[in-house]
Amino acid sequence: MSTMDLLTPELDAYLVAHSDPADDLLRDLAAETAAAFPDAARMQISHDEGEFLTMLVRLVGARSAVEVGVFTGYSSICLARGLADGGTLLACDVSEEWTDIARKYWDRAGLADRIELRVAPALETLRALPTDPVIDFAFIDADKVGYAGYYGELVPRLRPGGLIVLDNVLQGGRVVDPAEQGDAVRAIREVNDLVVADERVDAVMLPVRDGVTLARKR
Ligand SMILES: C[S@@+](CC[C@H](N)C(=O)[O-])C[C@H]1O[C@@H](n2cnc3c(N)ncnc32)[C@H](O)[C@@H]1O
Repeated sequence: MSTMDLLTPELDAYLVAHSDPADDLLRDLAAETAAAFPDAARMQISHDEGEFLTMLVRLVGARSAVEVGVFTGYSSICLARGLADGGTLLACDVSEEWTDIARKYWDRAGLADRIELRVAPALETLRALPTDPVIDFAFIDADKVGYAGYYGELVPRLRPGGLIVLDNVLQGGRVVDPAEQGDAVRAIREVNDLVVADERVDAVMLPVRDGVTLARKR
């Protein structure tokens, strides 16, 4: 998936320099991911987006979080680091190969006891969860055609005041180009329309990297 950058390289560097820096563990994870999976490494969220997620999890005071789309675990670490004491993250992905690296870094980060990995199609994992509204925070960053399904399963399980964050909602700017009719772009347009019309949530779309939407349960 290609992403967009609204910033000049100079502003990008300035922004990163004025956010809390990545620690050695996150730097090592990014480097190992780039070396092991050079073609897929661009799927990893950027460091400033990771800091943004940690901040949001803290602001929500989340104890129960869900991630859809783990890859090698960068965003999982950022989410788990923001959890309140005793909090847990349910991490969903289909790839054993990618999540093997994630598990290694969760261990090293001392977060392994806070993160439960489910390797299965995320829709199955989410549908099998209890329907009580107990989830405080969810991050959706997996296959784009699945977003509407993940969102649909998560909203009823979110507690009032809980937050869902959807990543890549601008699709490198392709969402506003009518000539772009690929499956991922169409799926993202549909979920973007669905979220803003959903009366169960307050929604705001932000130009953070490739675009994130925050949907807060009313
Ligand atoms: C964009 S990457 C996630 C990047 C990750 N958030 C990070 O910061 O490193 C998308 C992930 O979604 C996973 N995925 C794709 N289809 C899936 C599905 N149906 N269920 C669960 N995970 C899926 C892929 O295996 C991949 O690891």
